[in-house]
Amino acid sequence: MCIVEQREIEIVPVDGEGGFWDDRAGLLTCLREAPPRVPAYLGYDAIGSELFEAITELPGYYPTRVEHGLLQRHAEEIADLIGYERIAELGSGSAKKTRLLLAACVERRATSYLPIDVSREMLVTSARELTTELPGLRVQGLWGRYEAGLGWLRDGDSEPVTVALLGSNLGNTTPEERDVLLTEIAATLRPGDGFLVSADLQKPAEVLEACYNDPLDRSAFARFRLNHLSHLNRRFGADFALEYFYPRAHYDSATTAVQGLLYATEDQTVALRELDLELVLRRGDSLNVGFSYKFHRPQFVADVAARGFDLGAQWIDAVWQYGIFLFVRSGAPPFRT
Ligand SMILES: C[S@@+](CC[C@H](N)C(=O)[O-])C[C@H]1O[C@@H](n2cnc3c(N)ncnc32)[C@H](O)[C@@H]1O
Repeated sequence: MCIVEQREIEIVPVDGEGGFWDDRAGLLTCLREAPPRVPAYLGYDAIGSELFEAITELPGYYPTRVEHGLLQRHAEEIADLIGYERIAELGSGSAKKTRLLLAACVERRATSYLPIDVSREMLVTSARELTTELPGLRVQGLWGRYEAGLGWLRDGDSEPVTVALLGSNLGNTTPEERDVLLTEIAATLRPGDGFLVSADLQKPAEVLEACYNDPLDRSAFARFRLNHLSHLNRRFGADFALEYFYPRAHYDSATTAVQGLLYATEDQTVALRELDLELVLRRGDSLNVGFSYKFHRPQFVADVAARGFDLGAQWIDAVWQYGIFLFVRSGAPPFRT
């Protein structure tokens, strides 16, 4: 007989016991954009979160592999530099890459990990795996959107903290959302606190479009993108017919964003009953189910620094595809000793 120890997993609802899923006003604002957009977090219900993991396993999806490689090579150095017990991570997902860093931290000091994510299922699974793999690591999951998680940190204790934002998640925000998010991160951190953030760097359109579309024998991106519509059907009484949409991602070099699009293959009217809204789509119209902005490294560093940060260190892969940056909230000497 095998007895498996069930560890207590601590998940704190910071955004109204999951009530954030029903944020009609936020969704309506995005659906009124041209093309109509589904906010990024609505792609990550329990099913969407699993489907995203399938994307990370696609042979051409380099961001996860490159970031994993950077963390494998540099986790010890990063752990030495951040030096604090508390690490909070925005949009932690499965935390498969973060655990490389957490393992290096746990070897050095008592460590508390505070993953912040809309996916309760991912928080539970990752917390269970992490506490099993890294005995001694304390995990407290914060269930909700970024702003709510940061608010919880601001209201809580004043111990130093490093906020991580990996997976180039910052690229999944619009420039306006990014501005708000960076400002909120800066407002949450105290002088000397750390901000560990990764960014996918600009590269040719053909490379990006190969990365963000399925190869012929796979359907991970298609299923992930179409699940946005299924989620709206389930949650907002919409009647999207998935067979009338064709998923395709394009890179727009003017905005430097990959847009994950769903093209209408027929003229159609979609009702979203609980929003009291009808979307009239002509054949060829599109819905935007996700941005992935690509960054110009010096501009990225300058934009973050302008919010009140100093760049402490950076790790870039050999062919300059992807970077991890450690910033320090200004106002105190970098890195406590
Ligand atoms: C692209 S995945 C990346 C996951 C992980 N950081 C990685 O690198 O594999 C984005 C993650 O952020 C979460 N997420 C997206 N928008 C969010 C928001 N506004 N607030 C909280 N979590 C969010 C999703 O649930 C998902 O786990």
